[in-house]
Amino acid sequence: MGVGIYAFGYLTPWPFWHPVKILGNVSGIVVIAALTVFLWRRIVDQAKAGKSTYSDWLFLAILLLTTLTGFLCQWLRLADLRALAYPAYFVHLIFIFFLLVYIPYSKFAHLVYRTVAMLHSGGRAR
Ligand code: HEM
Repeated sequence: MGVGIYAFGYLTPWPFWHPVKILGNVSGIVVIAALTVFLWRRIVDQAKAGKSTYSDWLFLAILLLTTLTGFLCQWLRLADLRALAYPAYFVHLIFIFFLLVYIPYSKFAHLVYRTVAMLHSGGRAR
């Protein structure tokens, strides 16, 4: 969306059937499905999933809340309920902020640690 807005001046909101919107919605559904499986395994199959720590729950919960509020923003906009859509967007942005700021203290840290570890082992191999 950022590329469309800033590189091509194609301002939002984009129509529901725009390929980028379809990708956003499909990705959102896939994220919710994946999170449901991960949460379910941690709750029901505790022995197999191993010990669940604060950082495991934090990451799953915040990513779920971010995705759900994202969908809420879109539905409220499509329903033209502005008084609710703007606050929902505010909440969506707070969760995104939380997700990014808490990268070092949540499972999201793998994003950085794993990349560095792969680079390190690749460098050693060479
Ligand atoms: C990890 C980050 C994010 C996740 C998981 C996420 C998730 C979602 C999802 C699933 C939707 C509904 C599907 C769609 O409209 O395409 C959505 C909508 C939306 N998101 Fe996010 N989002 C994220 C980051 C952002 C960021 C960084 C912004 C803006 C700065 C943003 C602004 C919006 C807006 C404005 C909508 C409503 C779009 C509409 O009304 O059609 N999101 N988000």
